[in-house]
Amino acid sequence: MASFLTSTYHFTMFFILLSTFLAFTDGKFSEQYPNTKATIHDKISHLHFYFHDIVSGKNPTAILIAGQRNSFGSTAMIDDPLTEGPEPSSKLVGRAQGMYAMTSQQDGSLLMVVNFAFNEGKFNGSSVSVIGRNPVLDAVREMPVVGGSGIFRLARGYALAKTYQYNITSGDAVVEYNVFITHD
Ligand SMILES: *[C@@H]1O[C@H](CO)[C@@H](O)[C@H](O)[C@H]1NC(C)=O
Ligand SMILES: *[C@@H]1O[C@H](CO)[C@@H](O)[C@H](O)[C@H]1NC(C)=O
Repeated sequence: MASFLTSTYHFTMFFILLSTFLAFTDGKFSEQYPNTKATIHDKISHLHFYFHDIVSGKNPTAILIAGQRNSFGSTAMIDDPLTEGPEPSSKLVGRAQGMYAMTSQQDGSLLMVVNFAFNEGKFNGSSVSVIGRNPVLDAVREMPVVGGSGIFRLARGYALAKTYQYNITSGDAVVEYNVFITHD
C-alpha cells in the first residue's frame, strides 16, 4: 500500500511537471511549425579564394596565443585576409577569423575553428563556420562547413584547402580554398 501511494505520488508529480513544461514550451520558449518549403537547402554556392596566413613581420595576421610554435599544443588566433587571387595585393573578399591549434603529436595536423566573414558584393556581412581537421602536409585537405549566417543561413558543406605557397623561412603561407555550400 505504501509503495502504491509512493508511486502514485511520483506519477502525479511527473504529470504536473510535464504539463508545466509543455505549457512553458508552447509559444514562449519555443515553437514549431510545418516546413512549407519544398527543400530547405535549395541553393549551392561555390566560393574560390586565397587565404593569407602571415606569421612574420610587423603586422602578423596569425599570432601564437599558447604553446610553442610548430609543436603539439601550439595555438594561434588568426584574422587572415581572403583575396580573389593569390597575390596579397589582390582584391579582398573577406577575412578568416578564428583559431587553429596543433592537435597531433605525429604530424602537422591542425584543428581549425574558423569563421570566414565575407565583404564582397551580396556576400558582404555573411559568414560560414568551418570546424575540421587540417593535415597541412596533405595536398588537399577537406574540412566541414558546419553552419553560416546571412546568405549562408542553415549552411552545410565542405571546404577544400590546398597550399599555394609556403615560405619555409618566414612561415607565411598562402592557401587556395574552394568552398561548396548548400544553404537556404
Ligand atoms: C560591407 O558592409 C559594410 C557595413 O554594412 C560597409 O561599411 C562596407 O562598405 C561594405 N563593404 C563592401 C565591400 O561593400
Ligand atoms: C621568404 O621569407 C623571407 C623572410 O621573410 C624573405 O626574405 C623571402 O623573400 C621570402 N621568400 C619568398 C619566395 O617570398
